[in-house]
Amino acid sequence: MTADNWETLLPPMFAAAGIAVSGPLIIEPLTGGVSSDIVRVQLSDGRDFCAKRALSLLKVKTEWQAPVERNHYEIAWLRRAGQIVPGAVPKVIGEDQAHGIALLEYLPAADYLLWKTELLAGRADPAVPVAVAHALGAIHAATLNDPEVAAEFATDHLIDALRLDPYLRFTATRHPEVADRIIGVLEVTASTKLALVHGDVSPKNILVSRHDGHPVLLDAECAWYGDPAFDAAFCLNHLVLKSIHLPMLQPMLLGQAEAFAVTWLSHLPAALRPEMEGHVAALLPCLMLARVDGKSPVEYLTPASQKRVRDLSLPLISQPVADLGRVFAALRS
Ligand SMILES: Nc1ncnc2c1ncn2[C@@H]1O[C@H](COP(=O)(O)OP(=O)(O)OP(=O)(O)O)[C@@H](O)[C@H]1O
Ligand SMILES: [Mg+2]
Repeated sequence: MTADNWETLLPPMFAAAGIAVSGPLIIEPLTGGVSSDIVRVQLSDGRDFCAKRALSLLKVKTEWQAPVERNHYEIAWLRRAGQIVPGAVPKVIGEDQAHGIALLEYLPAADYLLWKTELLAGRADPAVPVAVAHALGAIHAATLNDPEVAAEFATDHLIDALRLDPYLRFTATRHPEVADRIIGVLEVTASTKLALVHGDVSPKNILVSRHDGHPVLLDAECAWYGDPAFDAAFCLNHLVLKSIHLPMLQPMLLGQAEAFAVTWLSHLPAALRPEMEGHVAALLPCLMLARVDGKSPVEYLTPASQKRVRDLSLPLISQPVADLGRVFAALRS
């Protein structure tokens, strides 16, 4: 979107939020997003905001369309999550639902690090995955079996278009030898209706406070009432892929992944833990494979590392284990 459009669309949003705007807006694109136009908006009095507008065609190699209504669910997720774990998300200042725009609190680089940048630079603070698991676990636990939240996030069509299809169904077509297994995992995930899911718990969507280390979750466009194990597996997958990308850090990153899993599970009722652990153990190898052979491969893996991901994930998909300890043991081998 051009600055022109922003200059027309943003002032009414500020007005609706009771924020006086005098003088021109200074609009500067933020980098990193493939699914949105995202900008920093500075008012002439120096106050900063972030505005995000969902795109209908994602900026990835394989054609991938996504409905812009997801912007509304992102805002709804941010509002709910912010009530459950204050500070774990940017504050929502306003919404223009017709244009699919979110106006958010701006989190400056002077105060926040991007977790992905830290991990790829080899700075893997063990407190971060544990803090992320606490925030995520609290959001899942607070929304378990809640019909009101389920009705608010009836987004099966979105999670299918944005996650299950491009990651799992597409990957199944690339690996006929395990296609039935992957589709089976997809079906279990799709039919699990338990808690409010973020849907994109990736280090590129998590800021970490430079001051007290608290994590801030961004980018909830895949918000869905469904299988909370999807969030845990999605985040674990990123730690596992980084452990393959950075072999020197492998023991540390896999240890952090295990700590994440233990912390996240501790938030759930004891009776639910074995089932959720099983879901995570089944999803994790499918998601690993999806990030090399699905529609949105991670950009940092070399061909040799991609092969390693396939070599590790395929046996775990064809001979699944329900115990995450055994999954991690296989990943360490
Ligand atoms: N509220 C905010 N304050 C400051 N920076 C932000 C804020 N929200 C997002 N950003 C920056 O913009 C980047 C992209 O944001 P976001 O992930 O929400 O967009 P996206 O287009 O949905 O991304 P994706 O590529 O993951 O689909 C983030 O990684 C972060 O660096
Ligand atoms: Mg993002």
